[in-house]
Amino acid sequence: MKGGGERCWWGRRGPSPELLLNLLLCLAPLGLLGEETRQLFEFDSTNITTSEPLGKPYSPYSLAEFSWNNISDSLDPATLSATFRGHPTKDPSRTFANGSLTFRVQAFSRSGRPAQPPRLLHTADTSQLQVALAGASRGNRSLFRLEVVMLGQSPSCPSMQEQHSIDDEYAPAVFQLDQLLWDPHSSGFMQWRPVAFSQQQGNRESAMPCHASALEPTLPYLVPQSPIVRAFFGTQNNFCAFNLTFGAPTGPGYWDQQYLSWSMLLGVGTPPVDALSPLILGIMAVALVAPGLMLLGGGMFLLLGRKQHLEYQSIN
Ligand SMILES: *[C@@H]1O[C@H](CO)[C@@H](O)[C@H](O)[C@H]1NC(C)=O
Ligand SMILES: *[C@@H]1O[C@H](CO)[C@@H](O)[C@H](O)[C@H]1NC(C)=O
Ligand SMILES: *[C@@H]1O[C@H](CO)[C@@H](O)[C@H](O)[C@H]1NC(C)=O
Ligand SMILES: *[C@@H]1O[C@H](CO)[C@@H](O)[C@H](O)[C@H]1NC(C)=O
Ligand SMILES: *[C@@H]1O[C@H](CO)[C@@H](O)[C@H](O)[C@H]1NC(C)=O
Repeated sequence: MKGGGERCWWGRRGPSPELLLNLLLCLAPLGLLGEETRQLFEFDSTNITTSEPLGKPYSPYSLAEFSWNNISDSLDPATLSATFRGHPTKDPSRTFANGSLTFRVQAFSRSGRPAQPPRLLHTADTSQLQVALAGASRGNRSLFRLEVVMLGQSPSCPSMQEQHSIDDEYAPAVFQLDQLLWDPHSSGFMQWRPVAFSQQQGNRESAMPCHASALEPTLPYLVPQSPIVRAFFGTQNNFCAFNLTFGAPTGPGYWDQQYLSWSMLLGVGTPPVDALSPLILGIMAVALVAPGLMLLGGGMFLLLGRKQHLEYQSIN
């Protein structure tokens, strides 16, 4: 993410979807998610204790020691997407024999919502990053945690924001939206719902919590030498990291189908604002109007009752 407003080399306009896609292609495994520091942690949650609330940790994977597919083969111009699929270079226990860690980046040519929950509202200036882990675990009850490293040009880390809403139409039972906002002038953002899914078809049954830790400044590492990355970030950068923990020892979990996926939106400028969905507006209308109608009905009944009473009196 670019930290300072003026040095954006596309000027005041947002970048095109193609540029964002290019950028993410350069960054997704190599820059955005860190290099030396970025790791995938695994815990055995069969026996949780107060000192190890996620269970016993296995040795972490360093994503710098993963080998990745040739990105050219997975570029899909029709969907403006590309997929990085990787597995550890050294895998003596063959944990990843049939498994992979995938980062899928997608740009959008216009605003809308993806078909899969959490269906975050996107615009043409945003890109989606989906992380999926499939078919690789060292135990029967593994919990995973991903360390995410970001770079920006302001000395402080981006601020984390939680938004709450009464609307869960697009993400069942999730009423929260988490955002990272880059200063100054809201130059960029990352946005996600605190939910991951333990099945490819994300639904209420496969929804698991995704907990984000606080951001911490972290040691610098080498930014990839790609010209596009240099253009975007310049040479002076500060690094911040946080952890995303997927699932809880109580389940549902990765162990259901040896699968987990999580997604977020990335963009320049201010994040898109989600209006309340038509369904929620409808429910609100009924909830607010119905008592009004009942009151009105009650009032009319009283009036009619009184009128009849008066008529009865006048007849006598
Ligand atoms: C769980 O861990 C505690 C402390 O390490 C140990 O005493 C206990 O035997 C373990 N339980 C199981 C079922 O492994
Ligand atoms: C990736 O694939 C493209 C075409 O499919 C090829 O031109 C390029 O050399 C390959 N890159 C590597 C690093 O293998
Ligand atoms: C990988 O898949 C093959 C074929 O589906 C299966 O025979 C093998 O046991 C699997 N290996 C692991 C480590 O899951
Ligand atoms: C996984 O569960 C099976 C059956 O419940 C058990 O035999 C096996 O030892 C377990 N594996 C691990 C690594 O805990
Ligand atoms: C992420 O979690 C790991 C393991 O639990 C920990 O060592 C590391 O310091 C954490 N990183 C951040 C930025 O919180």
